Amino acid sequence: MTIETAWAAVRDRGEILKATSLRDLFAAGPDRAASFSFRDEDLVINFSKEKLDQAALDALLALARASDVEGLRDDVVAGEVVNVTEGRAVLHMALRGGAQPPASDDVEGALARFLAFAERVRSGEVAGAGGKITDVVNIGIGGSDLGPAMAARALRPDIDGPRLHFVSNVDGAHLADTVAALDPARTLVIVSSKTFTTLETMANARLARDWLGANAVGQMVAVSTKLDACADFGIPAERVFGFWDWVGGRYSLWSAIGLSLAIGIGAEGFRAFLAGAAAMDRHFCETPLESNLPVLLALVSIWRRNAMGWPTVALIPYDQRLERFAAYVQQLDMESNGKRVTREGAPVTVATGPVIWGEPGTNAQHSFFQLLHLGTDVVPVDFIAAARPRDADPAHHTLLLANCFAQGQALAFGRTASEVEAEMRAAGRSEAEIARLAPHRTFPGDRPSTTILFRGLDPFSLGRLIALFEHKVFVQGAIWGVNSYDQWGVELGKVLAGGLIPALRDRTEPPPGTDASTAGLIDNLKELSA
Ligand code: F6P
Repeated sequence: MTIETAWAAVRDRGEILKATSLRDLFAAGPDRAASFSFRDEDLVINFSKEKLDQAALDALLALARASDVEGLRDDVVAGEVVNVTEGRAVLHMALRGGAQPPASDDVEGALARFLAFAERVRSGEVAGAGGKITDVVNIGIGGSDLGPAMAARALRPDIDGPRLHFVSNVDGAHLADTVAALDPARTLVIVSSKTFTTLETMANARLARDWLGANAVGQMVAVSTKLDACADFGIPAERVFGFWDWVGGRYSLWSAIGLSLAIGIGAEGFRAFLAGAAAMDRHFCETPLESNLPVLLALVSIWRRNAMGWPTVALIPYDQRLERFAAYVQQLDMESNGKRVTREGAPVTVATGPVIWGEPGTNAQHSFFQLLHLGTDVVPVDFIAAARPRDADPAHHTLLLANCFAQGQALAFGRTASEVEAEMRAAGRSEAEIARLAPHRTFPGDRPSTTILFRGLDPFSLGRLIALFEHKVFVQGAIWGVNSYDQWGVELGKVLAGGLIPALRDRTEPPPGTDASTAGLIDNLKELSA
Protein backbone atom coordinates (compact mmCIF):
# COMPACT_ATOMS: atom_id res chain seq x y z
CA MET A 1 0.00 0.00 0.00
CA THR A 2 1.33 3.47 -0.83
CA ILE A 3 1.53 6.14 1.84
CA GLU A 4 -1.02 8.23 -0.07
CA THR A 5 -3.53 5.36 -0.11
CA ALA A 6 -2.93 4.70 3.58
CA TRP A 7 -3.50 8.38 4.45
CA ALA A 8 -6.66 8.43 2.34
CA ALA A 9 -8.03 5.40 4.21
CA VAL A 10 -7.33 7.09 7.58
CA ARG A 11 -9.05 10.29 6.47
CA ASP A 12 -12.05 8.44 5.02
CA ARG A 13 -12.56 6.55 8.25
CA GLY A 14 -12.14 9.83 10.13
CA GLU A 15 -15.02 11.41 8.19
CA ILE A 16 -17.28 8.53 9.24
CA LEU A 17 -16.24 8.70 12.86
CA LYS A 18 -16.60 12.47 13.07
CA ALA A 19 -20.32 11.76 12.68
CA THR A 20 -20.31 8.94 15.25
CA SER A 21 -20.47 9.85 18.92
CA LEU A 22 -18.64 8.12 21.73
CA ARG A 23 -22.06 7.19 23.12
CA ASP A 24 -22.80 5.48 19.78
CA LEU A 25 -19.43 3.71 19.81
CA PHE A 26 -19.99 2.35 23.32
CA ALA A 27 -23.54 1.30 22.47
CA ALA A 28 -22.25 -0.58 19.42
CA GLY A 29 -19.28 -2.09 21.24
CA PRO A 30 -19.92 -2.63 24.92
CA ASP A 31 -16.58 -4.48 25.18
CA ARG A 32 -14.61 -1.41 24.02
CA ALA A 33 -12.85 -1.07 27.37
CA ALA A 34 -11.24 -4.47 26.85
CA SER A 35 -10.66 -4.27 23.11
CA PHE A 36 -9.10 -0.81 23.27
CA SER A 37 -6.98 -1.38 26.39
CA PHE A 38 -3.39 -2.50 25.92
CA ARG A 39 -0.79 -3.36 28.49
CA ASP A 40 2.82 -4.22 29.09
CA GLU A 41 3.39 -5.67 32.55
CA ASP A 42 1.71 -3.23 34.96
CA LEU A 43 1.41 -0.40 32.41
CA VAL A 44 -2.10 -0.13 30.94
CA ILE A 45 -3.26 2.29 28.27
CA ASN A 46 -6.99 2.60 27.76
CA PHE A 47 -7.95 4.17 24.42
CA SER A 48 -11.62 3.24 24.62
CA LYS A 49 -12.73 6.85 25.08
CA GLU A 50 -11.05 7.87 21.81
CA LYS A 51 -13.34 8.45 18.84
CA LEU A 52 -12.05 5.51 16.86
CA ASP A 53 -13.02 1.95 16.09
CA GLN A 54 -11.22 -1.18 14.91
CA ALA A 55 -11.44 -0.12 11.26
CA ALA A 56 -9.77 3.19 12.17
CA LEU A 57 -7.05 1.39 14.11
CA ASP A 58 -6.48 -0.97 11.19
CA ALA A 59 -6.17 1.99 8.82
CA LEU A 60 -3.67 3.63 11.19
CA LEU A 61 -1.63 0.44 11.47
CA ALA A 62 -1.56 0.21 7.68
CA LEU A 63 -0.31 3.81 7.62
CA ALA A 64 2.45 2.91 10.08
CA ARG A 65 3.50 0.04 7.84
CA ALA A 66 3.30 2.12 4.66
CA SER A 67 5.49 4.72 6.41
CA ASP A 68 8.03 1.99 7.26
CA VAL A 69 8.01 2.76 10.97
CA GLU A 70 9.67 -0.59 11.66
CA GLY A 71 12.42 0.02 9.09
CA LEU A 72 13.16 3.46 10.51
CA ARG A 73 13.20 2.01 14.02
CA ASP A 74 15.76 -0.56 12.86
CA ASP A 75 17.84 2.25 11.33
CA VAL A 76 17.85 4.07 14.67
CA VAL A 77 18.93 0.94 16.55
CA ALA A 78 21.62 0.21 13.94
CA GLY A 79 23.11 3.68 14.41
CA GLU A 80 22.28 4.96 10.92
CA VAL A 81 22.52 8.73 10.49
CA VAL A 82 18.79 9.33 10.92
CA ASN A 83 19.27 12.94 12.02
CA VAL A 84 19.96 13.86 8.42
CA THR A 85 20.17 17.63 8.81
CA GLU A 86 22.80 17.46 11.54
CA GLY A 87 24.53 14.35 10.20
CA ARG A 88 24.13 12.36 13.41
CA ALA A 89 22.99 8.98 14.62
CA VAL A 90 20.32 8.91 17.35
CA LEU A 91 21.43 6.43 19.95
CA HIS A 92 20.09 7.52 23.32
CA MET A 93 18.78 3.96 23.71
CA ALA A 94 22.44 2.93 24.01
CA LEU A 95 22.60 4.84 27.30
CA ARG A 96 20.27 2.25 28.81
CA GLY A 97 21.46 -0.81 26.93
CA GLY A 98 18.94 -0.82 24.09
CA ALA A 99 21.17 -0.02 21.08
CA GLN A 100 24.82 -0.24 20.12
CA PRO A 101 26.96 2.86 20.77
CA PRO A 102 29.78 3.56 18.31
CA ALA A 103 32.64 1.16 19.09
CA SER A 104 34.90 3.92 20.40
CA ASP A 105 32.43 5.17 23.00
CA ASP A 106 32.60 3.65 26.46
CA VAL A 107 29.02 4.18 27.59
CA GLU A 108 29.21 1.90 30.64
CA GLY A 109 32.53 3.46 31.68
CA ALA A 110 31.08 6.98 31.47
CA LEU A 111 27.98 5.91 33.41
CA ALA A 112 30.03 4.18 36.09
CA ARG A 113 32.21 7.28 36.41
CA PHE A 114 29.43 9.79 36.95
CA LEU A 115 27.51 7.42 39.23
CA ALA A 116 30.67 6.91 41.32
CA PHE A 117 31.03 10.68 41.56
CA ALA A 118 27.39 10.96 42.60
CA GLU A 119 28.01 8.44 45.39
CA ARG A 120 31.09 10.32 46.55
CA VAL A 121 29.04 13.52 46.82
CA ARG A 122 26.35 11.67 48.74
CA SER A 123 28.84 10.13 51.14
CA GLY A 124 30.64 13.41 51.77
CA GLU A 125 33.90 12.24 50.21
CA VAL A 126 33.45 15.04 47.69
CA ALA A 127 32.77 17.96 49.99
CA GLY A 128 32.57 21.72 49.86
CA ALA A 129 34.83 24.19 51.63
CA GLY A 130 32.34 24.20 54.50
CA GLY A 131 31.79 20.45 54.73
CA LYS A 132 29.40 17.91 53.30
CA ILE A 133 27.45 19.11 50.23
CA THR A 134 23.90 19.99 51.27
CA ASP A 135 22.62 21.43 47.99
CA VAL A 136 23.19 20.80 44.30
CA VAL A 137 22.33 23.44 41.69
CA ASN A 138 22.03 22.21 38.11
CA ILE A 139 22.49 25.00 35.61
CA GLY A 140 21.18 24.13 32.16
CA ILE A 141 18.22 24.78 29.87
CA GLY A 142 15.95 22.77 27.59
CA GLY A 143 17.09 19.18 27.52
CA SER A 144 19.88 19.98 29.96
CA ASP A 145 17.33 21.04 32.56
CA LEU A 146 13.83 19.73 31.96
CA GLY A 147 14.62 16.03 32.30
CA PRO A 148 16.46 16.09 35.62
CA ALA A 149 14.20 18.87 36.96
CA MET A 150 11.05 16.90 36.10
CA ALA A 151 12.46 13.60 37.40
CA ALA A 152 13.74 15.16 40.64
CA ARG A 153 10.21 16.29 41.43
CA ALA A 154 8.67 13.00 40.32
CA LEU A 155 11.04 10.96 42.50
CA ARG A 156 10.97 13.16 45.59
CA PRO A 157 10.55 10.20 47.98
CA ASP A 158 13.70 8.62 46.51
CA ILE A 159 15.85 11.68 47.08
CA ASP A 160 17.91 10.96 50.14
CA GLY A 161 21.01 12.88 49.05
CA PRO A 162 21.57 16.64 48.94
CA ARG A 163 18.67 18.90 47.99
CA LEU A 164 18.40 19.46 44.22
CA HIS A 165 17.78 22.83 42.57
CA PHE A 166 17.49 23.75 38.89
CA VAL A 167 18.32 27.06 37.30
CA SER A 168 17.54 27.56 33.62
CA ASN A 169 16.23 31.03 32.82
CA VAL A 170 18.64 33.77 31.80
CA ASP A 171 16.50 36.02 33.98
CA GLY A 172 19.00 36.60 36.78
CA ALA A 173 16.17 36.29 39.27
CA HIS A 174 16.16 32.54 38.73
CA LEU A 175 19.67 32.03 40.05
CA ALA A 176 19.35 34.75 42.66
CA ASP A 177 16.17 33.30 44.15
CA THR A 178 17.52 29.75 44.00
CA VAL A 179 20.76 30.44 45.84
CA ALA A 180 19.34 33.02 48.26
CA ALA A 181 19.03 30.50 51.10
CA LEU A 182 21.99 28.29 50.13
CA ASP A 183 25.45 28.16 51.66
CA PRO A 184 28.10 28.76 48.95
CA ALA A 185 30.55 26.69 50.97
CA ARG A 186 28.31 23.61 50.85
CA THR A 187 26.72 23.88 47.40
CA LEU A 188 27.81 21.94 44.33
CA VAL A 189 27.10 23.64 41.00
CA ILE A 190 26.72 21.46 37.91
CA VAL A 191 26.95 23.28 34.58
CA SER A 192 25.03 21.07 32.15
CA SER A 193 25.26 21.93 28.49
CA LYS A 194 25.76 19.67 25.52
CA THR A 195 27.34 22.46 23.49
CA PHE A 196 28.74 24.56 26.36
CA THR A 197 27.84 27.64 24.34
CA THR A 198 24.17 28.19 25.21
CA LEU A 199 23.76 31.83 26.16
CA GLU A 200 21.46 31.26 29.15
CA THR A 201 23.56 28.50 30.66
CA MET A 202 26.89 30.23 30.20
CA ALA A 203 25.56 33.50 31.65
CA ASN A 204 24.17 31.65 34.67
CA ALA A 205 27.36 29.60 35.03
CA ARG A 206 29.44 32.80 35.24
CA LEU A 207 27.06 34.27 37.80
CA ALA A 208 27.18 31.07 39.85
CA ARG A 209 30.98 31.05 39.70
CA ASP A 210 30.96 34.57 41.14
CA TRP A 211 28.50 33.51 43.86
CA LEU A 212 30.68 30.53 44.82
CA GLY A 213 33.75 32.80 45.01
CA ALA A 214 36.85 30.95 46.10
CA ASN A 215 34.78 27.77 46.52
CA ALA A 216 34.23 27.62 42.75
CA VAL A 217 37.56 25.83 42.33
CA GLY A 218 36.34 22.71 44.08
CA GLN A 219 32.58 23.02 43.81
CA MET A 220 31.84 23.37 40.12
CA VAL A 221 31.50 20.44 37.78
CA ALA A 222 30.48 20.29 34.12
CA VAL A 223 28.52 17.91 31.95
CA SER A 224 29.07 18.37 28.24
CA THR A 225 30.22 16.91 24.94
CA LYS A 226 32.68 19.82 24.61
CA LEU A 227 35.47 18.98 26.99
CA ASP A 228 37.78 21.76 25.73
CA ALA A 229 35.15 24.43 26.37
CA CYS A 230 34.74 23.14 29.94
CA ALA A 231 38.50 23.42 30.45
CA ASP A 232 38.47 26.96 29.02
CA PHE A 233 35.77 27.84 31.55
CA GLY A 234 38.09 26.65 34.28
CA ILE A 235 36.64 23.26 35.16
CA PRO A 236 39.39 20.63 35.17
CA ALA A 237 38.97 17.35 33.29
CA GLU A 238 38.51 15.25 36.44
CA ARG A 239 35.33 17.18 37.19
CA VAL A 240 33.92 17.08 33.66
CA PHE A 241 31.49 14.31 32.70
CA GLY A 242 31.16 13.76 29.00
CA PHE A 243 28.64 12.36 26.59
CA TRP A 244 28.36 12.16 22.82
CA ASP A 245 26.81 14.03 19.91
CA TRP A 246 24.57 11.02 19.17
CA VAL A 247 22.62 11.96 22.29
CA GLY A 248 20.08 14.66 21.40
CA GLY A 249 19.57 17.40 24.01
CA ARG A 250 15.97 16.39 24.73
CA TYR A 251 17.04 12.75 25.01
CA SER A 252 20.03 13.39 27.27
CA LEU A 253 18.52 12.73 30.69
CA TRP A 254 19.93 9.20 30.54
CA SER A 255 23.51 10.48 30.12
CA ALA A 256 25.59 12.46 32.62
CA ILE A 257 22.98 15.22 32.16
CA GLY A 258 21.20 13.13 34.80
CA LEU A 259 24.07 13.69 37.28
CA SER A 260 22.01 15.92 39.58
CA LEU A 261 19.28 13.28 39.71
CA ALA A 262 21.86 10.56 40.37
CA ILE A 263 23.23 12.58 43.29
CA GLY A 264 19.71 12.84 44.63
CA ILE A 265 18.54 9.24 44.22
CA GLY A 266 21.88 7.42 44.23
CA ALA A 267 23.50 5.06 41.74
CA GLU A 268 21.12 2.20 42.42
CA GLY A 269 18.07 4.38 41.88
CA PHE A 270 19.54 5.81 38.70
CA ARG A 271 20.22 2.33 37.34
CA ALA A 272 16.60 1.37 38.09
CA PHE A 273 15.52 4.48 36.18
CA LEU A 274 17.62 3.36 33.18
CA ALA A 275 16.25 -0.17 33.50
CA GLY A 276 12.68 1.15 33.25
CA ALA A 277 13.53 2.94 30.02
CA ALA A 278 15.33 -0.15 28.71
CA ALA A 279 12.23 -2.26 29.42
CA MET A 280 10.20 0.11 27.24
CA ASP A 281 12.91 0.00 24.55
CA ARG A 282 12.58 -3.78 24.44
CA HIS A 283 8.81 -3.56 24.31
CA PHE A 284 9.03 -1.00 21.49
CA CYS A 285 11.57 -2.95 19.46
CA GLU A 286 10.08 -6.42 19.92
CA THR A 287 6.29 -6.08 20.15
CA PRO A 288 4.10 -6.29 17.03
CA LEU A 289 2.69 -2.92 16.03
CA GLU A 290 -0.85 -4.04 16.94
CA SER A 291 -0.02 -4.16 20.65
CA ASN A 292 3.01 -1.90 20.78
CA LEU A 293 2.22 0.80 23.34
CA PRO A 294 4.27 3.71 21.95
CA VAL A 295 3.12 2.86 18.43
CA LEU A 296 -0.54 2.86 19.51
CA LEU A 297 -0.10 6.08 21.46
CA ALA A 298 1.41 7.69 18.36
CA LEU A 299 -1.30 6.36 16.06
CA VAL A 300 -4.04 7.70 18.30
CA SER A 301 -2.23 11.02 18.33
CA ILE A 302 -2.07 10.98 14.50
CA TRP A 303 -5.76 10.16 14.47
CA ARG A 304 -6.58 13.15 16.66
CA ARG A 305 -4.38 15.49 14.68
CA ASN A 306 -4.88 14.37 11.10
CA ALA A 307 -8.21 12.52 10.95
CA MET A 308 -10.11 14.65 13.47
CA GLY A 309 -8.20 17.91 12.98
CA TRP A 310 -7.67 18.77 16.65
CA PRO A 311 -4.59 20.98 17.07
CA THR A 312 -3.80 20.67 20.79
CA VAL A 313 -3.50 17.98 23.45
CA ALA A 314 -3.83 18.43 27.21
CA LEU A 315 -1.49 16.18 29.19
CA ILE A 316 -2.91 15.86 32.69
CA PRO A 317 -1.09 13.72 35.24
CA TYR A 318 -3.21 12.98 38.27
CA ASP A 319 -0.01 13.00 40.26
CA GLN A 320 1.37 16.10 41.92
CA ARG A 321 4.90 14.77 41.62
CA LEU A 322 4.50 14.73 37.82
CA GLU A 323 3.86 18.48 37.93
CA ARG A 324 6.62 19.13 35.37
CA PHE A 325 5.83 16.18 33.12
CA ALA A 326 3.81 18.23 30.63
CA ALA A 327 6.64 20.77 30.40
CA TYR A 328 9.08 17.92 29.76
CA VAL A 329 6.90 16.35 27.05
CA GLN A 330 6.37 19.78 25.53
CA GLN A 331 10.04 19.96 24.61
CA LEU A 332 10.24 16.30 23.68
CA ASP A 333 7.24 16.43 21.36
CA MET A 334 7.10 20.01 20.11
CA GLU A 335 10.83 20.49 19.52
CA SER A 336 10.95 17.10 17.79
CA ASN A 337 7.86 17.25 15.61
CA GLY A 338 7.11 20.96 15.26
CA LYS A 339 8.33 20.76 11.66
CA ARG A 340 7.03 22.13 8.37
CA VAL A 341 9.24 20.29 5.91
CA THR A 342 9.95 16.59 5.40
CA ARG A 343 13.28 14.87 5.93
CA GLU A 344 13.95 15.63 2.26
CA GLY A 345 13.15 19.34 2.72
CA ALA A 346 9.80 19.41 0.88
CA PRO A 347 6.80 21.09 2.54
CA VAL A 348 4.78 18.58 4.54
CA THR A 349 1.35 17.80 3.17
CA VAL A 350 -0.23 16.91 6.53
CA ALA A 351 -0.42 18.76 9.83
CA THR A 352 2.47 17.79 12.15
CA GLY A 353 3.12 18.19 15.88
CA PRO A 354 0.20 19.40 17.99
CA VAL A 355 0.51 21.89 20.83
CA ILE A 356 1.07 20.00 24.09
CA TRP A 357 0.16 21.62 27.36
CA GLY A 358 -1.08 20.68 30.79
CA GLU A 359 -1.02 20.84 34.55
CA PRO A 360 -1.62 18.21 37.19
CA GLY A 361 -5.14 17.19 38.17
CA THR A 362 -7.05 17.96 40.24
CA ASN A 363 -5.72 21.54 40.10
CA ALA A 364 -6.42 21.70 36.37
CA GLN A 365 -10.09 20.92 37.01
CA HIS A 366 -10.39 24.21 38.83
CA SER A 367 -8.73 26.27 36.15
CA PHE A 368 -9.11 25.26 32.49
CA PHE A 369 -11.33 22.17 32.55
CA GLN A 370 -14.38 24.40 32.09
CA LEU A 371 -13.17 25.04 28.55
CA LEU A 372 -12.36 21.36 27.97
CA HIS A 373 -15.93 20.41 28.86
CA LEU A 374 -17.95 23.33 27.54
CA GLY A 375 -15.70 25.39 25.26
CA THR A 376 -16.08 25.50 21.49
CA ASP A 377 -12.88 23.56 20.75
CA VAL A 378 -12.32 19.87 21.28
CA VAL A 379 -9.11 19.26 23.23
CA PRO A 380 -8.15 15.59 23.57
CA VAL A 381 -6.77 14.72 26.99
CA ASP A 382 -4.09 12.25 28.05
CA PHE A 383 -4.60 11.29 31.69
CA ILE A 384 -1.70 9.70 33.57
CA ALA A 385 -2.10 8.12 36.99
CA ALA A 386 -0.46 5.65 39.35
CA ALA A 387 -2.76 3.03 40.90
CA ARG A 388 -0.96 3.19 44.24
CA PRO A 389 0.20 6.24 46.13
CA ARG A 390 3.88 6.16 46.94
CA ASP A 391 3.65 7.47 50.47
CA ALA A 392 0.59 9.71 50.47
CA ASP A 393 -2.61 9.11 52.39
CA PRO A 394 -4.50 6.28 50.57
CA ALA A 395 -7.80 8.06 51.12
CA HIS A 396 -6.45 11.09 49.27
CA HIS A 397 -5.31 8.84 46.47
CA THR A 398 -8.84 7.48 46.13
CA LEU A 399 -10.15 11.03 45.81
CA LEU A 400 -7.48 11.78 43.23
CA LEU A 401 -8.26 8.78 41.03
CA ALA A 402 -12.03 9.13 41.35
CA ASN A 403 -11.60 12.63 39.95
CA CYS A 404 -9.33 11.41 37.16
CA PHE A 405 -11.76 8.74 35.99
CA ALA A 406 -14.76 11.06 36.41
CA GLN A 407 -13.20 13.67 34.13
CA GLY A 408 -12.77 11.09 31.38
CA GLN A 409 -16.40 10.04 31.87
CA ALA A 410 -17.70 13.60 31.78
CA LEU A 411 -15.67 14.45 28.68
CA ALA A 412 -16.79 11.35 26.81
CA PHE A 413 -20.43 11.08 27.71
CA GLY A 414 -21.37 14.53 28.93
CA ARG A 415 -24.87 15.20 30.19
CA THR A 416 -27.67 15.71 27.68
CA ALA A 417 -30.24 18.48 27.90
CA SER A 418 -32.97 15.99 28.75
CA GLU A 419 -30.83 14.48 31.51
CA VAL A 420 -30.24 17.95 32.93
CA GLU A 421 -33.92 18.83 32.72
CA ALA A 422 -35.00 15.59 34.38
CA GLU A 423 -32.50 16.11 37.17
CA MET A 424 -33.65 19.68 37.75
CA ARG A 425 -37.28 18.62 37.73
CA ALA A 426 -36.52 15.93 40.30
CA ALA A 427 -34.89 18.60 42.44
CA GLY A 428 -38.12 20.61 42.32
CA ARG A 429 -36.90 23.48 40.10
CA SER A 430 -39.52 25.49 38.21
CA GLU A 431 -40.00 25.00 34.46
CA ALA A 432 -38.91 28.61 33.85
CA GLU A 433 -35.69 28.05 35.76
CA ILE A 434 -35.07 24.76 33.93
CA ALA A 435 -35.51 26.50 30.57
CA ARG A 436 -33.14 29.29 31.63
CA LEU A 437 -30.37 27.13 33.10
CA ALA A 438 -30.46 23.86 31.17
CA PRO A 439 -28.41 25.15 28.19
CA HIS A 440 -25.65 26.28 30.58
CA ARG A 441 -25.65 22.98 32.42
CA THR A 442 -25.70 20.68 29.38
CA PHE A 443 -22.42 18.92 28.59
CA PRO A 444 -22.05 17.97 24.91
CA GLY A 445 -19.62 15.15 25.73
CA ASP A 446 -18.07 13.28 22.79
CA ARG A 447 -14.67 14.64 23.85
CA PRO A 448 -11.88 12.08 23.70
CA SER A 449 -9.32 11.01 26.25
CA THR A 450 -6.72 8.32 26.78
CA THR A 451 -5.85 7.04 30.24
CA ILE A 452 -2.38 5.75 31.08
CA LEU A 453 -2.33 3.80 34.32
CA PHE A 454 0.51 2.01 36.08
CA ARG A 455 1.14 0.50 39.49
CA GLY A 456 3.21 3.15 41.23
CA LEU A 457 5.61 6.00 40.49
CA ASP A 458 9.22 5.00 41.16
CA PRO A 459 12.53 5.22 39.29
CA PHE A 460 11.74 2.19 37.11
CA SER A 461 8.22 3.24 36.16
CA LEU A 462 9.26 6.85 35.54
CA GLY A 463 12.04 5.69 33.19
CA ARG A 464 9.54 3.50 31.38
CA LEU A 465 6.99 6.31 31.12
CA ILE A 466 9.50 8.76 29.64
CA ALA A 467 10.72 6.16 27.11
CA LEU A 468 7.08 5.49 26.17
CA PHE A 469 6.71 9.13 25.16
CA GLU A 470 10.13 9.21 23.45
CA HIS A 471 9.18 6.33 21.19
CA LYS A 472 5.72 7.77 20.60
CA VAL A 473 7.36 10.97 19.34
CA PHE A 474 9.63 8.92 17.07
CA VAL A 475 6.70 7.03 15.52
CA GLN A 476 4.75 10.23 14.90
CA GLY A 477 7.78 11.82 13.24
CA ALA A 478 8.30 8.72 11.11
CA ILE A 479 4.71 8.84 9.88
CA TRP A 480 4.76 12.58 9.25
CA GLY A 481 8.05 12.08 7.41
CA VAL A 482 9.93 14.75 9.38
CA ASN A 483 13.34 14.71 11.05
CA SER A 484 12.39 14.54 14.74
CA TYR A 485 15.96 15.13 15.87
CA ASP A 486 16.90 18.65 14.81
CA GLN A 487 15.63 21.97 16.24
CA TRP A 488 16.40 24.74 13.76
CA GLY A 489 13.35 26.58 15.05
CA VAL A 490 15.29 27.85 18.05
CA GLU A 491 18.11 29.36 15.98
CA LEU A 492 16.68 32.54 14.46
CA GLY A 493 15.65 34.05 17.79
CA LYS A 494 19.11 33.33 19.23
CA VAL A 495 20.82 35.13 16.34
CA LEU A 496 18.48 38.12 16.47
CA ALA A 497 18.88 38.41 20.25
CA GLY A 498 22.65 38.51 19.78
CA GLY A 499 22.24 41.43 17.37
CA LEU A 500 19.98 43.36 19.75
CA ILE A 501 22.11 42.99 22.88
CA PRO A 502 24.43 45.99 22.17
CA ALA A 503 21.49 48.33 21.50
CA LEU A 504 19.83 47.33 24.77
CA ARG A 505 22.99 47.23 26.85
CA ASP A 506 24.86 50.25 25.48
CA ARG A 507 21.82 52.35 24.57
CA THR A 508 23.09 52.51 20.97
CA GLU A 509 21.06 52.39 17.78
CA PRO A 510 19.60 48.99 16.83
CA PRO A 511 21.37 47.14 14.03
CA PRO A 512 20.63 48.40 10.49
CA GLY A 513 17.54 46.78 9.05
CA THR A 514 15.80 46.38 12.41
CA ASP A 515 12.05 46.46 11.81
CA ALA A 516 10.06 49.50 12.94
CA SER A 517 8.13 47.62 15.62
CA THR A 518 11.22 46.31 17.36
CA ALA A 519 12.97 49.68 17.04
CA GLY A 520 9.93 51.24 18.69
CA LEU A 521 10.13 48.75 21.55
CA ILE A 522 13.80 49.59 22.04
CA ASP A 523 12.88 53.29 22.26
CA ASN A 524 10.17 52.45 24.83
CA LEU A 525 12.70 50.42 26.79
CA LYS A 526 15.26 53.23 26.85
CA GLU A 527 12.63 55.61 28.15
CA LEU A 528 11.16 53.26 30.75
CA SER A 529 14.46 52.02 32.10
CA ALA A 530 16.11 55.44 32.29
O1 F6P B 1 16.38 24.68 22.69
C1 F6P B 1 17.40 24.29 21.84
C2 F6P B 1 18.39 23.40 22.51
O2 F6P B 1 19.39 23.13 21.59
C3 F6P B 1 17.79 22.12 23.02
O3 F6P B 1 17.61 21.14 22.07
C4 F6P B 1 18.75 21.77 24.09
O4 F6P B 1 18.22 20.81 24.93
C5 F6P B 1 18.97 23.11 24.73
O5 F6P B 1 18.97 24.01 23.65
C6 F6P B 1 20.21 23.25 25.56
O6 F6P B 1 21.37 23.06 24.82
P1 F6P B 1 22.75 22.79 25.51
O7 F6P B 1 22.65 21.53 26.28
O8 F6P B 1 23.74 22.69 24.40
O9 F6P B 1 23.06 23.94 26.42
